[in-house]
Amino acid sequence: MAARPKLIAGNWKMHGSIGQNRDLLHAVVQGTTGLEADVAVCVPYPYLSQTQSLLQQTHVSWGAQNVSQHEKGAYTGEVSGSMLTDFGCRYAIVGHSERRALYGEDNYIVALKFKAAQTAGLIPILCVGETLDQREAAITERVVAEQLDAVIELAGIASLAKSVLAYEPVWAIGTGKTATPEQAQEVHAFVRNRIAGRDPGVASGLQILYGGSVKASNAAELFSMTDIDGGLIGGASLIADEFIKICLAGKN
Ligand code: PGA
Repeated sequence: MAARPKLIAGNWKMHGSIGQNRDLLHAVVQGTTGLEADVAVCVPYPYLSQTQSLLQQTHVSWGAQNVSQHEKGAYTGEVSGSMLTDFGCRYAIVGHSERRALYGEDNYIVALKFKAAQTAGLIPILCVGETLDQREAAITERVVAEQLDAVIELAGIASLAKSVLAYEPVWAIGTGKTATPEQAQEVHAFVRNRIAGRDPGVASGLQILYGGSVKASNAAELFSMTDIDGGLIGGASLIADEFIKICLAGKN
């Protein structure tokens, strides 16, 4: 288990400005230098160029928060995977619950995006997670399994070897309500076991991040769980001090 490096990835969502980004990225680079864990930021598209020029000689990776399922064409407003690699992106988040809920991305579209990201040479960060209603109806595992299986069906089990998963219970995102380490671990273990049933090697190497109100004060406890390999960090990734402390909690 110790063989899996931790990854701490910031998801800035629709926040930032040229000036704020400069300060934040500078601080993150300084504050995480020498850290064994992988550190990344997923920034809004217009800031990819700035992010690339500020991070390219550093240990911090970057990525996008979405990607089109199409390679190119008449898709006004969309951004393809190869455009993201043009700006040095390593990662693209796919299937974030805000995309699923607000932009109608279903499991099949998310699977297409996952595949498109990989085809372009990106590492997709695939988000899965249940709503509060689903948790209360005790169908968390079914929901997460369906989200995962759609990707496996389209892209194949081996494709997970070149991806990152993020378990993000929807009720914990931006709410200040974090899943307990035990609640998160339970779902992470479920996901890993399900994948292990198909390919044990892929399952044991896969980074599974937890996301949903991760803060400096709860990160170490979450990251200490056997199947939690780091975090996808929303709100707290915008505050340099908080984000750096979360990264430090991820040191192996
Ligand atoms: P949060 O967001 O840390 O603000 O809860 C996490 C996410 O949406 O990835």
